[in-house]
Amino acid sequence: MKVIAFNGGPRKTWNTATLLEHALQGAAAQGAETELVHLYDLAYTGCKSCFACKRKGARLASCAVRDDLAPVLARAAEADALVIGSPIYIGATTGMLQSFLERLVFPYIAYDAAHTTLFPRPIRTAGIYTFGADEARVKQMGFDAPINVHGRVLARVFGAFESLLVTDTYQFDDYTKYEASGHDVMHKAQRRQEVFPQDCQAAYAIGARLCDPVV
Ligand SMILES: Cc1cc2nc3c(=O)[nH]c(=O)nc-3n(C[C@H](O)[C@H](O)[C@H](O)COP(=O)(O)O)c2cc1C
Repeated sequence: MKVIAFNGGPRKTWNTATLLEHALQGAAAQGAETELVHLYDLAYTGCKSCFACKRKGARLASCAVRDDLAPVLARAAEADALVIGSPIYIGATTGMLQSFLERLVFPYIAYDAAHTTLFPRPIRTAGIYTFGADEARVKQMGFDAPINVHGRVLARVFGAFESLLVTDTYQFDDYTKYEASGHDVMHKAQRRQEVFPQDCQAAYAIGARLCDPVV
């Protein structure tokens, strides 16, 4: 059993990456082999709309673009579960995560009437999203909108999807160094100490569930 996590954020030791690591630890505890891919380390683009994956007689379900993502997509095709993670930037997942999803998902969507999935077997997927805003503001601003689309598309293409939304994250190593007067530093520090460990546990539990068969 192989579980791959994709960090769509630029920081390798902060909220999103830490949560993904916990998810992989949960999977590893169930006996899975795990891999964490930091997308910002790779040079790639989003889908180029070449439609090679849709040409008649072509090798379907495979992206024809050759860049750093090509071997990563090949490993994803063999994986037994996938987990994506991203900070929310201006109400969306990062551009790197979106570009990755275009290349990962689009080749598996047949352009037939039913939008049949070409992914060969059902696997579990999950998404972990982190927000600087608190839960009320996330709802008010609609920052969680992309997750609904991910849920529908990834469940349809791969077989199953679940999400974890982590709000009100701690953003800086030292708030005194930054102009952040709109942030309640004491509240942020308290949340980091008291709530973030629970978020990490929730991520761990997701990782463990990724190893369950899709029913
Ligand atoms: C460019 C940029 C845009 C952001 N936009 C939003 C946003 O629209 N909504 C939000 O809740 N947080 C926003 N944030 C905050 C991050 O989503 C939040 O701090 C996140 O947890 C960072 O993840 P990381 O610690 O893994 O880097 C933004 C941060 C940056 C750097």
